[in-house]
Parts: sequence; C-alpha cells; structure tokens
Amino acid sequence: MSGAVGTADAEAAELPEYPMTRASGCPFDPPPELKAAQREGPLRRVRLWDGSTPWLVTRYADQRALLADSRISADVMRPGYPSPSEVPKEGSPISFILMDDPEHGRLRRMVTPPFSVKRVEALRPAIQRIADDLIDTMLAGSKPADLVDAFALPLPSLVICELLGVPYADHDFFQENSKQVINRDTTPEQKQNALVELGRYLYELMGRKLEEPGDDLLSELTGRINNGEITQADAAQMGVLLLIAGHETTANMIALGTLALFEHPEQFALLRDSDDPELTASAVEELLRYLHITHNGRRRVAIEDIEIAGETIRAGEGVIIPNDIGNRDPEVFDDPDSLDVRRGDHRHLAFGFGVHQCLGQQLARVELQVVYNTLYKRIPTLQPATSLENIPFKHDGSVYGVYELPVTW
Ligand code: HEM
Repeated sequence: MSGAVGTADAEAAELPEYPMTRASGCPFDPPPELKAAQREGPLRRVRLWDGSTPWLVTRYADQRALLADSRISADVMRPGYPSPSEVPKEGSPISFILMDDPEHGRLRRMVTPPFSVKRVEALRPAIQRIADDLIDTMLAGSKPADLVDAFALPLPSLVICELLGVPYADHDFFQENSKQVINRDTTPEQKQNALVELGRYLYELMGRKLEEPGDDLLSELTGRINNGEITQADAAQMGVLLLIAGHETTANMIALGTLALFEHPEQFALLRDSDDPELTASAVEELLRYLHITHNGRRRVAIEDIEIAGETIRAGEGVIIPNDIGNRDPEVFDDPDSLDVRRGDHRHLAFGFGVHQCLGQQLARVELQVVYNTLYKRIPTLQPATSLENIPFKHDGSVYGVYELPVTW
C-alpha cells in the first residue's frame, strides 16, 4: 500500500508544477512551459502546491466546452477542487464565484441589473469625468509619475465605490486588504484575515445602509435583506466580491495595457491618432485577449466522468483551464502572439465563459474604452520613464499586471 502511494508521489513529482510563471519569457505572453504544453497536446496532468495532480486543458475549444459543461463544479469546498492555496475552513464566508447553481445563480441575479449594458452605458459620462480629473491632477503634479498610483488604480476604484455606495475615503483600507486576498504569496492566514476584515467592513456598511438607504447597489440589497431573501452577512459577502473584482482587474488592464502599447509604438500611434470609437473598442478586446490578466487559470472539479479530447476526466478530479493560453490558440486566432488593435476577431476568453462569465464585463469594457480613448490623446507624448527590465511585474498575484509604471511626458 505505502509502496503504491510512494510510486504515485514519485510520478506526481515528475509532473510540471502549476501555476507556471511568465517571469522566464516575454512579460505579455503566457509562460513558455504553458505554450509548450499546448503544442504537445490538449490535456495533461500538472502538480499543484499541495501535491494534487489536476488536469490542465490547453486548447480554446476544450476550454469553452468545459466551462459551459454542467458536469463541472466551481465549488471550492468539493473534494478534488484544485485550489490555488489552502481551501477556506468549513463555515467561512464564500462568494458566489466559488458556488454552483442554483445558489450561485440566485445570488448573482440579485446584483446583475446595475451591470447591464444600458445601465453601464449611462455611467460613461461619469467615468469620462473621473478619467479627465485624474489626468488633470497627474499633469499638474511632478514628473515622472506612477501611472498605477495616479490613474490606473483610482479610476476603477472610484467607479466601483460610486456604484456600490462604498466611501472612497476608505480606499487605503480596502485596497490593501484586496491586495492580500489576490497575492499568490500571502499565507492562508493573511488571506483569511484580509477577507474577514473586508467582510466586517462591508457588514457594518450594510448596517448603515439598512438604516439610511442611498441610491446605490448595496442599498438595493437592503430590500432583499428586509424580506428575508438574504442575510446581512450574504449581502456583505457579495459586496466584498464586487469590491475586489471591480477594481483590481480593470486597474491592471489599464497599466499593463499601456505598457504593452509602449512596447508596440505603431499600435500606440494608431490608437492615439484615431477618432474612431470602433477602433478603441477593438483595441480593448484585443488587449484583453493578448494580456489575459487573470493568469491563474479557471479552477473546477468534475462531478461526473467527462470524455474530452480523447481522455476521461473522472468525477472528483480537478481541472485547470488557463484561458491565457486559450486566447493564443493558433487554431482559433491568426498570428495569435501578435498584438493587433485592428484584429476583428473578439472571441477571447478574458472574461471566462459559461455561468461564471464575468458579471462586470460591460463595466470593464466601458472603463477601458474611456481610458484608451482619452489617456493617449490627452497626453500624446506619454512614455515610460524607465526601461522594461526595471518594471516590477505581478508574477505573484492571482491578477497579473505591474506594481508600478513610472511615466513621463
Ligand atoms: C478587465 C477587467 C476584468 C477581467 C479581465 C475580469 C475577468 C473575470 C473572469 C475571467 C471571471 C470568471 C471567473 C471564473 O470563471 O472562475 C470573472 C468573474 C467575475 N467578475 Fe470579472 N473581470 C473584470 C472586471 C470585473 C469588474 C469591473 C467587475 C465588477 C464588479 C467584475 C465582477 C466579477 C464577478 C462578480 C465575477 C463572478 C461571476 C460569477 O461567478 O457568476 N469583474 N471576471
């Protein structure tokens, strides 16, 4: 018996470790080992931090098929779930991103209306004002400036605070705690503490909204609490998810996208010199495809046996679906490794796919369209103030990007 376990352990030790890092290759590309895995075949085993050996799905078509498959679960508490770190303890608060239907759908639907195309479009003028104000302040300050600090982080943070009804004055507190939640190298205790702190903060805020509702998403949830559909703790948990998801992702797309454009000056010039909103929209989609910042892979576990790409994923086996490599699949995208803001094919998986597909994608799109249409036109001489080698990349975070981007003009 122990011999069999020993053999299995030895075999597992031979497998490539996941996640792989972009540190050894081009900072805008998926890790070289992941590209090699895609060339070698559609499915393979990898080894995680805890010694488990889930499947890695490398090709676009299989990734989409699995993300849309109801035999796949996103429930982090299920045995076999390929967690990026220690799983939360029984009874810990969990957001609907880590739940299955019907509970996932029930909770998601409660917060869906403010993220509709129509309601997000109505926010465009306010987002434009925020972008212009931040640029005015940056231009009035000294050079070089850190684009992350001056622009990329405050913009989505101000927008999501406004939408949720969270006081922006508390941004130091929630940005610091969000960072702890999404950093790959924080300990499980640090992550747990940060989630507890954020949960407590939003619970208290919900309490204030219950007494005095305003015109915002969290206040809309008070009606659901009052009629017993959800508890105050559930509402606070949804607030935590939306607050974290709402600013870290877009912020990284702004800073990393700008850096990618600096490194592709002809693409930067196309965007800066065009007044065509279609081109801006296309550039946003292309940068989402090319950069794919949620680089930790979608995590799932099979709840039934699934035959796919000539293999059988058994019930209870973990599945990792790295959409960054799906977005570079040569069977789907022509010349997938080049950044082409005029590319017409926007079938990327940057927002995931299936029932958990990003709830905030329209908001992210509008924010990025405003940014990419404003920043380089208002500061046509915007340029990096240091070389690529000196930029600190977030290889350690579950959302990829840059910690700082010194710029001048
Ligand atoms: C460029 C920016 C963004 C990117 C690349 C992004 C990416 C993603 C991805 C890949 C997923 C799927 C996760 C999975 O299947 O496991 C997701 C889910 C989600 N995103 Fe985003 N996101 C972005 C912006 C936003 C914004 C602005 C919000 C607003 C609050 C948001 C809220 C959410 C929520 C609530 C979910 C969970 C959906 C569910 O489980 O049903 N995201 N996002």
